[in-house]
Amino acid sequence: MCGIVGYVGYRDCSEVLVSALTKLEYRGYDSAGIAVFDNNEIKVAKSKGRLADLVEKMKTDGKPEGVAGIGHTRWATHGEPSDVNSHPHSGAKVTIVHNGIIENYKELKKFLTDKGAKFLSDTDTEVVAKLLGYYYKLNPGKPLDTIVETIKELEGSFALGVVFQDFPDVVYAVRRESPLIVGVGKNESFIASDVPAILQYTKDYYLLEHDEIAKLDCNGVEIFDEHGKKLEKELLTADWDMDAAEKGGYPHFMIKEIHEQPSSIKTTITPRISNGLPDLKECSIDLEKLRKFKQIFIVACGTAMHAGMVGKYVIEKLARVSVTVDIASEFRYREPLISKGDLVIIISQSGETADSLAAMRLAKKLGASTLAIVNAKGSSIAREADMLIYTHAGPEIAVASTKAYIVQLAVMYLFAFDLALAKGMIDEAECKRLTSILQDMPSLIETILETELENTQYVSNQLITAESLLYIGRGLDYALSMEGSLKLKEISYIHSESYAAGELKHGTISLITKDMPVIAVATQSALLDKTVSNIKEVKARGAKVILIARDDFNVDEDAYDYIVRVPKTEDLFMPIPAAVPLQLIAYYTSVLRGNDVDKPRNLAKSVTVE
Ligand code: G6P
Repeated sequence: MCGIVGYVGYRDCSEVLVSALTKLEYRGYDSAGIAVFDNNEIKVAKSKGRLADLVEKMKTDGKPEGVAGIGHTRWATHGEPSDVNSHPHSGAKVTIVHNGIIENYKELKKFLTDKGAKFLSDTDTEVVAKLLGYYYKLNPGKPLDTIVETIKELEGSFALGVVFQDFPDVVYAVRRESPLIVGVGKNESFIASDVPAILQYTKDYYLLEHDEIAKLDCNGVEIFDEHGKKLEKELLTADWDMDAAEKGGYPHFMIKEIHEQPSSIKTTITPRISNGLPDLKECSIDLEKLRKFKQIFIVACGTAMHAGMVGKYVIEKLARVSVTVDIASEFRYREPLISKGDLVIIISQSGETADSLAAMRLAKKLGASTLAIVNAKGSSIAREADMLIYTHAGPEIAVASTKAYIVQLAVMYLFAFDLALAKGMIDEAECKRLTSILQDMPSLIETILETELENTQYVSNQLITAESLLYIGRGLDYALSMEGSLKLKEISYIHSESYAAGELKHGTISLITKDMPVIAVATQSALLDKTVSNIKEVKARGAKVILIARDDFNVDEDAYDYIVRVPKTEDLFMPIPAAVPLQLIAYYTSVLRGNDVDKPRNLAKSVTVE
């Protein structure tokens, strides 16, 4: 993970770097640092902790003054978070920041140590800095050749910002696997791991591809291939605006993003519906193609995988095609039985998750067709998939995913309708009916956001002292419980598990005591009686039960302690509105426990390492 930035222009570089890094803190926040050309010398400021700690440190120690430099916010992989392991790192006449993992760093470190190099940190990054220094000695005065030689030796993933002592006010950048963009403004240019970092300065950017090298100086930007040959590249324009990357009056990004869900769904599905039917042709998906798929695999990580779980139920129910959901890190090593004629759907907010990307490449190698459902434009997964449906959630800054999940669900439904139609499992009239129910989802969510805020706060109050809790549900409610439970544990730090309600009695019920709250999700009419029986089983054993139920369900009042009502829609669609109270409960519990909601400990939003 980690976020990198770089700047060459006329503004106060330290300020630009810090301000750009604040937009990338979601990528890691255990240390931060910058390197700036100050009177033609590279001056480094870095420290363990948040970016705010670095800013404080610079107030005391002095801030590097200049108009060009590089910066970094870290999520530790090699070496604990500490001042010395913080980036930037230096080699002879060269200083760098790095996002990614160098897999052969041990061999390279040995090679360099044998040549007399001394290492200060435990990082793989310092090895790259020293290797650049080594090649620079062999190619004095030739930074581009130095980078070309160095990256030939590197295995793994990297996005690097590089400055050479002999070339003041010039920033180089290069990437393999890890994301990197090059922003182009008027008399200034930028590098960044993600678009929000540069939005306040410019919307125009180049997307660096595999092993491409960028040079930023006062004349602008030049881009070269891995051999150092100059390239002409297309300048892209971001369609995200600045407001999308700001809190806009909300106390946290997470609650802002929860409130953005209705509009995110609308923006995602509206362009994919024509004449009341799903229309995914623009994503290279047509009925002819869909008809041919034999089996479907959905592969993803974390929240995106949970969206896939809901997708499985919906696709199997409507289209009667077998769907297997896999965790990407398992899929890629389990020799999956897939072949030509199968479809592998990769779901990813960032489009850069290392395991999901590797799983997609494996699926392609095995001959399957691949469909990516991705939020980040131009990301690696988006670029390499055979078919692509962008979710239009806009930038999601909070580490805990909410609006990206909701739009992943919306796309799963739209896809399921299209597939069911292609397979002849539903007719056009039914497909139109289902599509129009999906179009009602934004207003259902708006209703919840109007009516349930206080109620979910009250529920969260009941949870703050819990050490452990369970989420239970059946069918789609179980699929949704997985996400509810993950959301709560990642930001509240309360241990929590989701369980298929019917499976409880086979072991887990032994954990139930009065100190273990149970959040039961009951939105499926066909399963209501069964779920209520399971709820009574835990209630009888002393558990405090919080019931998330459809608003027209009649459940015995003594079966639960608190209830959160979810406006009624058809069973199949209930996960969409019911996700919202679960997100709110997680959010308020985290707030009430005084946690850093948007930046939970140990987590990062974009996991570009295995
Ligand atoms: C990280 C994030 C999760 C996310 C998962 C997959 O763990 O913290 O919120 O669901 O990665 O990320 P992706 O970008 O592939 O959806």
